[in-house]
Amino acid sequence: MTEISSETRFLHAIEMGLGAWQWGDRVVWQYGHGYSEIQVREAFQVAIAEGIRFIDTAEIYGNGLSERLLGGFLQETDQPVLIATKFFPWPWRFTKGAIPKALKGSLSRLKVESIDLYQIHWPTPVMGTDRVMQGLAECVKSGLTRTVGVSNYGQSRLLAAYSSLSRHNVPLASNQVHYSLLNRAVEKDGTFARCKELGIRLIAYSPIEKGLLAGKYSPENPPPGSRARQYAGLLPKLPPLIKEMTLIGQDHGGKSNSQVALNWVICKGALPIPGAKNADQALENAGALGWRLTEDEVTKLDELSDSILEEKS
Ligand SMILES: NC(=O)c1ccc[n+]([C@@H]2O[C@H](COP(=O)([O-])OP(=O)(O)OC[C@H]3O[C@@H](n4cnc5c(N)ncnc54)[C@H](OP(=O)(O)O)[C@@H]3O)[C@@H](O)[C@H]2O)c1
Repeated sequence: MTEISSETRFLHAIEMGLGAWQWGDRVVWQYGHGYSEIQVREAFQVAIAEGIRFIDTAEIYGNGLSERLLGGFLQETDQPVLIATKFFPWPWRFTKGAIPKALKGSLSRLKVESIDLYQIHWPTPVMGTDRVMQGLAECVKSGLTRTVGVSNYGQSRLLAAYSSLSRHNVPLASNQVHYSLLNRAVEKDGTFARCKELGIRLIAYSPIEKGLLAGKYSPENPPPGSRARQYAGLLPKLPPLIKEMTLIGQDHGGKSNSQVALNWVICKGALPIPGAKNADQALENAGALGWRLTEDEVTKLDELSDSILEEKS
């Protein structure tokens, strides 16, 4: 095990964060239909009141609107909030200088002078790993961000990023990837184990599987928008898992399915960043903290998730 560097240790102390893709995104989340600025401001306020202090956004979410909304909310609170955002590797951004330049744009939308974590959103064939890491390292050295991370990186790219950054004396803080009871690819392919070995924090996105693990969707009541097609094959297979999650939640004094789903991620050693459209969702998700599933419960959930995922593949 590599010792966690002092610069990135704070990320390992955070149990859970909040995702802000929903804030402004119309394509997947239909921002403006059924919820808007009032509701997402309340989601922010409730999360902060519940002790959540880490928020993940990206320049691409709502075309900058997520960062702008968050920037406004940050001005309205006196609480310290740790901010993570992401560089989107558009094909026309191929120089290392594009990275600090894009971060400056994010900082101005967020109305802050620096952030805590700057991530590359996806690997890019346009810029080689070394060039991307040079750009990220420059962001740390110029004080625009405290740490840097990657997102959607598999093991080989992760190792290349880690080595490249270390040549600049900058630690790789995190790898943000899809991880939930319904997507355990990083657990199965060794990426998660590699992160743990290298002291890289695994940040789990879609930890409620875009709402599916709340147990509110079914083939008869599919999620709206693009999720309906994305999950058409998975929805009929969910009942045994959801049933067990509900039973386990009851044994913990009435925890909800979403809380069980998030607690499972935490028990695995990852940092979940559930998205919330409103105060109710933010409040419920914050209730994933302060208790733990037993090892037997985690094993039982693993088995049920395996039987769904094996059937899927
Ligand atoms: N790096 C990447 O490539 C990447 C990719 C995806 C996401 N992310 C990040 O990860 C964050 C979370 O992932 P995600 O938004 O994809 O999925 P998620 O957190 O698994 O699901 C969020 C959605 O689930 C529903 N929901 C949330 N809390 C709920 C609750 N307590 N009860 C019932 N329903 C609830 C809401 O949608 P409905 O109410 O509409 O069902 C909400 O929009 C994002 O906000 C973003 O910051 C990063």
